[in-house]
Amino acid sequence: MEPLATPQIIQLPKFLDKRGNLSFIEEFKQIPFKIERTYWIYDVPGGEHRGGHAYKQNEEFIIALSGSFDVILNDGSESKVYSLNRSYYGLYVPKGLWREMNNFSTNSLALVLASRPYDENDYIRDMTEFNNWLK
Ligand code: TYD
Repeated sequence: MEPLATPQIIQLPKFLDKRGNLSFIEEFKQIPFKIERTYWIYDVPGGEHRGGHAYKQNEEFIIALSGSFDVILNDGSESKVYSLNRSYYGLYVPKGLWREMNNFSTNSLALVLASRPYDENDYIRDMTEFNNWLK
């Protein structure tokens, strides 16, 4: 799978079973990158938002393993909202987009697969700096 240039919702395999359902992800199969890091966001108090930054290189795949939340992506000219609320699909986020997350439901759990190890130097945390970096 080649790196993708645009954000997209990716449906995951789903094994429906009366004992309970099962989905999975393998690197370079369902998602277009090698998984170097996994983190999750949980216990988000009502009304809080996360994100508010861009990555210069890191790509991500975000899944609502439980509950729901919105991911807002901005490419410098337009903003799109992706509502995640099922564990059998996720949002692929290419590098170089401003991203925020909000509207977390009670007990929601956001799983994030990332293409790079954590590196604060890969973050752009200021919107003005992001817009300059895009030029
Ligand atoms: P951050 O990505 O800034 O969270 P958000 O954008 O959702 O507010 O992460 C918050 C802090 O957690 C960050 O300052 C450092 C730490 N952190 C790590 O050490 N490793 C990681 O993989 C991530 C995602 C964050």
